[in-house]
Amino acid sequence: MFIRNCWYAAALSRELTATQPLARTVICEPLVLFRKRDGSPVALEDRCCHRHTPLSIGRCEGDSIRCMYHGLRFDAAGRCVEIPGQLSIADSMRVRAYPVHETAGWLWVWMGDAQRADTRILPIPPWFDCEDWDMRYGMIELKAGYTLINDNLCDFSHTAFVHEKTFAGGERTFAETLPQITSLERGIRVERWITDRRTIEEWLPEDAAPQPSAPPRLDQWIAYDYLVPGVMIMRVEMHAAGTGQRQALRAPSQEPLHANLGIHAVTPVTSDTSRYYYSLGPRSCETRATPGLASEMFAAAVNGFEEDRRTVEAQQENLRRWPLADMQAIRHDRGVLLMSSVMQRLQNEEGDSC
Ligand code: FES
Ligand SMILES: [Fe+2]
Repeated sequence: MFIRNCWYAAALSRELTATQPLARTVICEPLVLFRKRDGSPVALEDRCCHRHTPLSIGRCEGDSIRCMYHGLRFDAAGRCVEIPGQLSIADSMRVRAYPVHETAGWLWVWMGDAQRADTRILPIPPWFDCEDWDMRYGMIELKAGYTLINDNLCDFSHTAFVHEKTFAGGERTFAETLPQITSLERGIRVERWITDRRTIEEWLPEDAAPQPSAPPRLDQWIAYDYLVPGVMIMRVEMHAAGTGQRQALRAPSQEPLHANLGIHAVTPVTSDTSRYYYSLGPRSCETRATPGLASEMFAAAVNGFEEDRRTVEAQQENLRRWPLADMQAIRHDRGVLLMSSVMQRLQNEEGDSC
């Protein structure tokens, strides 16, 4: 049901302090995260091998974590290294350790075969540099399965309706035009122009407008990769109206008036609950000129994500009521179907190998 050999977002870096263990469930497996003295993160199964008490209610001690029931202490590899009142420790006294990697303000865990953990397939693109972008970070818990959220993010036609008054700015172009979609090895690429849309000032608060002298209508370029297991790397640019047509609706080659980046990750908690982590922000050069821009944009985006949450949770509820009813496909489902076939292929390849 879940792909295992991939990196799942387990937490935002800021959530994991130097001293407190953090409990997180990823693909139905409870984990405890903690930091070693040098700050590097550790992920272990959240279950003491003695009497199964969660380690997440234990205590960080140096590079290890102590279960605060009978005091067993586990190192970062999951080996029990201390049993109070007992000198010998059997080799079987251990808990599973998961590969964990921290980058760009995110903590990623590898839920499959540890030997196959490969940082080259981390969804964060190598070109991403925190210095270039003024990112803000957040997370939403959803009472909905992760596939419904992946579906939502692979088809932005919903913007016209779910986000009618926020991201869509009252326009239906998102639903009335189709994006370019191409297949990638581990996902899909979605690209489109929304031409001649309202100025950015109309969907951002007035004092957050990055270009007060911008023309009254703008062309918006939206391009994202949606990658296994549910990570979206999205760049949005605003250009003077007419740019999209001049570029023959291909990727812009000129400097935008405004650009922002979004990195979003959907992590299954259980089969019907998920966490949606997100980070987004404009270019740092823009916020140096307009200091309020990043937080205003972030607040606007959080409102929009709440609209998604309400819709997808209501959809999940109806799927419970009508578990056997078929879904009917429309043209806008192309990205959704391509992405689910990538997920299916990787699940099939994994088979029982984990
Ligand atoms: S349950 Fe952890 S030490 Fe006993
Ligand atoms: Fe949405």
